[in-house]
Amino acid sequence: SNKDKDELYEINRQAARFFFKALRQQANPGYTYMKRRGISEEILNKFGIGYADEKWDSLYGFLRGKGISEEKMLDLGLISKSNGRYFDKFRNRVIFPIINTGGKVIGFGGRIIGEGEPKYLNSQESNIFKKKYNLYGLNLAGGDVRKEDSIILVEGYMDVVSLYQNGVRNVSASLGTALTENQARLIKRYTKNVILSYDADNAGQSAAMRGLDILYKESCRARVLKVTEGKDPDEFIKKNGRKAFIRLIDNAQPYGDFKLDFAKAKYDMNDQQQRIDYIGEAVDILKSMKPVEADIYIKKLAEDTGVSEGAIRFEYLGNNSQ
Ligand code: UTP
Ligand code: MN
Ligand code: MN
Ligand code: MN
Ligand code: MN
Repeated sequence: SNKDKDELYEINRQAARFFFKALRQQANPGYTYMKRRGISEEILNKFGIGYADEKWDSLYGFLRGKGISEEKMLDLGLISKSNGRYFDKFRNRVIFPIINTGGKVIGFGGRIIGEGEPKYLNSQESNIFKKKYNLYGLNLAGGDVRKEDSIILVEGYMDVVSLYQNGVRNVSASLGTALTENQARLIKRYTKNVILSYDADNAGQSAAMRGLDILYKESCRARVLKVTEGKDPDEFIKKNGRKAFIRLIDNAQPYGDFKLDFAKAKYDMNDQQQRIDYIGEAVDILKSMKPVEADIYIKKLAEDTGVSEGAIRFEYLGNNSQ
């Protein structure tokens, strides 16, 4: 019911306040860590970033003191139970509260301070936390997304915070999962123009590929930005600044170019058979496009492979012309 949900929101809000205050205590490891990563005071406050200490039961003790039941804390994934005892889930971590567009704290992401596994711990799904319907940062970025009429989608919490600090404020993250249909629909309430800016590694590029297909189905105009230095947008913008990142945005690849390049990377273009196989795969990609778009890419593909446009067009039209 709504009343149950409101109670859970309120507990998360209390937890967020607890973490928030902890990070602002003297010589706090979370604060030191974020400072070392170049995050300003203003941004720490704006995103409500906090700290969970190393003890086993700091948050648990705090919430018990407020009369909150263990059952609710368990439901929210704030604590776990082991050998009849309760333990804080988030320990020795910088805490990113995940706030929905209605301003409610629905969950948390926690980054380990320094090295350790898992690097990020996220709240489990709960009555009020459904990952696939939410984007990290959209509560703050929504206005800028509308103003710019575009959104930059990144993988991680740090990417959001770092781009935002560097003046790229129309940014959100898909909470560690590949983009979902529901997230695409949420985005469409703000803009149809999406720039996928995932990590430069294979995992990031494959996630961009899947994201593109989802956005295309939802009739968004999606493009893919690839960072050229550093492994993710955070590292890139820290090193090269806002202007260089804007140039990457301007050069982001449209759907067709990215898909063809992504496919091409699997083949050795000096090998004739592999070149033929690539054309086969490329033609399948062309078939998923609207005719005008496909026409443009037929020309590009011909030029790129040295095969005649006529032959590619013949393949594209397939065997349904008898
Ligand atoms: P990355 O591994 O790219 O981390 O994961 P990052 O965001 O660049 O982190 P830093 O810069 O090392 O601090 C991208 C995102 O995937 C999710 C998180 O949402 C993270 O921000 N993730 C990653 C997890 O949920 N758990 C993990 O263990 C790792
Ligand atoms: Mn329950
Ligand atoms: Mn990654
Ligand atoms: Mn990173
Ligand atoms: Mn990353």
